[in-house]
Amino acid sequence: MKNIVILISGRGSNMQAIVNANIPNARIAAVLSNNEQAAGLAWAAERGIATESINHKAFDSRLAFDRAMMDKIDAYQPDLVVLAGFMRILTPEFCTHYEGRLINIHPSILPSFTGLHTHERALEAGCRVAGCTIHFVTAELDCGPIISQGIVPILDGDSADDIAARVLTVEHQLFPQAVEDFVAGRLQIHGNRVLNEAFSAEGQSLLA
Ligand code: GRF
Repeated sequence: MKNIVILISGRGSNMQAIVNANIPNARIAAVLSNNEQAAGLAWAAERGIATESINHKAFDSRLAFDRAMMDKIDAYQPDLVVLAGFMRILTPEFCTHYEGRLINIHPSILPSFTGLHTHERALEAGCRVAGCTIHFVTAELDCGPIISQGIVPILDGDSADDIAARVLTVEHQLFPQAVEDFVAGRLQIHGNRVLNEAFSAEGQSLLA
């Protein structure tokens, strides 16, 4: 059994998708947040999952907060730490501590549109597709080895919210799959690439 700790900041729909996937050999050990009001915490607690929050505003530095988070996370002896809408920039110390066992979902087709407001920026740039990326986390923001990507069309008349909703349905498919692939030992990091036997089969599509 692999222990998984999920970090959220808000709604937690990706966390819910991972929990609901009932991934073989995976145990959701805890859901942690920097925001005690995060709706996803209540959802997880109702299902008997351990939940905790630490308010980042109570710390005078990013590093002090990250160290407090690391203490909490490590108490659950995680094999994998999942950032599922965790809206904090993490320190290099945090990223190094969990190197190779820390994954994130980002709502763009990386390396395009790192950072915030990805869908607005895709619209402004005139993109015809948008998407999401699941990747291992390194100290450089939104730049770690890519595990999987999903793509959706941008339609005439779309707002950023329309795109976000369309991308979210793909996020909910890809993220549990990435966690399952990690737990099953199917992911191998080679430099900046992730090899996954599922992607070496002929005809594997990038489109989710
Ligand atoms: C998702 O769109 C994710 O890509 C981004 O934040 C959002 C989180 O949504 N990082 P939820 O909390 O999982 O519903």
